Amino acid sequence: MAALRRSKFPKDFIWGVATSAYQTEGAHNKDGKGPSIWDTFTNNSHFKHPHNNEATDFYNTYKEDILKIKHLNLTAFRFSISWSRIFPDGIGDTNPKGIAFYHDVIKTCEEHHIEPWVTLYHWDLPQHLENLGGWTNRDIISWFSNYVDFCTKEFSTVKHWMVLNEPMSFIGLGYFMGIHAPGKKGLKHFLPAAHHATLCQAEGGRIIRKNCPNAQIGTTFSCSYVTPKNRLILNVRAAKRIDALLNRFFIEPALGLGYPYDAFLGLNRIEKFFKPGDEQRMVFDFDFIGIQYYFRIVAEHRILPLILHAGEIPATKRNVKVNNMGMEVLPKGLYKMLKKFSSYKGVNAIYITESGICLDDEIIKGKIKDRERIKYIKNTLKTTQKALNKGFKIRGFFHWTLIDNFEWADGYRPRFGLIYNDFKTQKRTFKQSALWLQSFLKS
Ligand code: BGC
Repeated sequence: MAALRRSKFPKDFIWGVATSAYQTEGAHNKDGKGPSIWDTFTNNSHFKHPHNNEATDFYNTYKEDILKIKHLNLTAFRFSISWSRIFPDGIGDTNPKGIAFYHDVIKTCEEHHIEPWVTLYHWDLPQHLENLGGWTNRDIISWFSNYVDFCTKEFSTVKHWMVLNEPMSFIGLGYFMGIHAPGKKGLKHFLPAAHHATLCQAEGGRIIRKNCPNAQIGTTFSCSYVTPKNRLILNVRAAKRIDALLNRFFIEPALGLGYPYDAFLGLNRIEKFFKPGDEQRMVFDFDFIGIQYYFRIVAEHRILPLILHAGEIPATKRNVKVNNMGMEVLPKGLYKMLKKFSSYKGVNAIYITESGICLDDEIIKGKIKDRERIKYIKNTLKTTQKALNKGFKIRGFFHWTLIDNFEWADGYRPRFGLIYNDFKTQKRTFKQSALWLQSFLKS
């Protein structure tokens, strides 16, 4: 394969970096912000990782941090809006200081010719709404619509919007497995929450289309390359069910294909939460989709959980390369995902809206030699190039993430940033991978 060069990618390919509000901003109770489910979840005594909710202090350092994006030769910045910074209770009164903050973040990006790509929901539901049932309450459609309507009118210069970040992650981990906020478990929470997220995904798209007719509208999906443990038919079918759950569940209804009932019987229990007209309401013609790939899953048949009857064999037991969260590192799995998502007729354009690796980065004599991350990025970009050569509609790449931040239920240990953060002092240091990317983008 030819040398990896920026100039070998399409001229209009977008090169960016991605963050999210809760993982990066800090200032969780400053200037009128209301509490979110993650403030509650991490302050609970059962939460394993000491957390001061200050994350990476972006709320106070955004001007310098955005300048660092420019310094790295990146031209797009994906970040999310914290719903409870705008509406402290999720609905009702707005918070002028929170609104001013996002205006200034957008303005700072624009001053530096960095395109803001804004995600409306990256998992930090206002706690007040969770007290009313959160995603399990169908009223979320009107709460969310009100929030989307407000943001897209208020921040009307934004040209790229994403409605949800990885619905399967926040619904699966937060309302089925209970390991993310709000910590709810079981199908009785999962099914209504999932259906309401599907409806919000499409409704959000429609509201943006009305308020910002010239904007590009997308939403993002997590995805995993799923393979069976072996060729035993039971395991092959188990892999199909996991694939349907992780890779098809939220995109197919948006494309008018409905939920993937063909993969597993029993999923139609979700129809208990349907109202007349929901099939049509789940559909929206997104201008683009974002895909976010981190790891491969090897699946096998199991009795539990019900309906799914499948489970994952941990990568740490499979003698494969893992990151420091124990996930299998396999950049070429991204190719399979790009192929899979490109093959849907209704998918107009794909952005890799997140890609990255967490390592035990350490500062040694003032330097962070994260060779593994450089290798990971290179392999990911080679895979992307191969997919582009096949004609897949990939339009851009966003590295996850800018600065080491708060990695949800795993606390501060997994470092995904291009920039090292000393969480005690908030001092930033460019990693070698950042410098590699900086020079690659000039090549
Ligand atoms: C999420 C990020 C997260 C990253 C790494 C993605 O699923 O969108 O918030 O930090 O994965 O785990």
